[in-house]
Amino acid sequence: MVLKSLFFLTILFCVGCTDSPQEILSGTPAEKGEQLYQTHCVRCHGSDGNKGASGAKQLQKSTLSKAQIIDIIKNGKGVMPAYKNTIKGDSSFIWLAEYVLTLKK
Ligand code: HEC
Repeated sequence: MVLKSLFFLTILFCVGCTDSPQEILSGTPAEKGEQLYQTHCVRCHGSDGNKGASGAKQLQKSTLSKAQIIDIIKNGKGVMPAYKNTIKGDSSFIWLAEYVLTLKK
């Protein structure tokens, strides 16, 4: 009985500890950036960056540098939420910013 509940506790713990996006991402940095973008950004910015929901800026027209994009993703701006506690790992923000820059037309 005790062993059985320990078993379930262990399973629960392991489900909780795999929520780091880096562990479920795969492929090249550009592909990981795209996966993060699809998960977190598409609902406002759209898959091409130009959806503009909730007043989201058109990413195809953005003139920001990579560092400025990383800053906005981490800290949010206006209606856009901050992602520094949602997305794990410094490299995730770099992948995302690099992906955002590829949307530019
Ligand atoms: C809830 C909707 C929403 C989500 C989700 C969202 N954004 Fe935004 N985003 C906005 C809004 C609104 C702005 C404009 C903020 C302002 O200037 O006041 C914005 C602005 C930006 C800018 C600045 C563009 C510029 O040129 O000024 C970047 C870059 C950006 N978002 C990237 C992202 C990325 C990457 C994600 C996913 C991690 C994301 N956003 C998720 C709503 C959103």
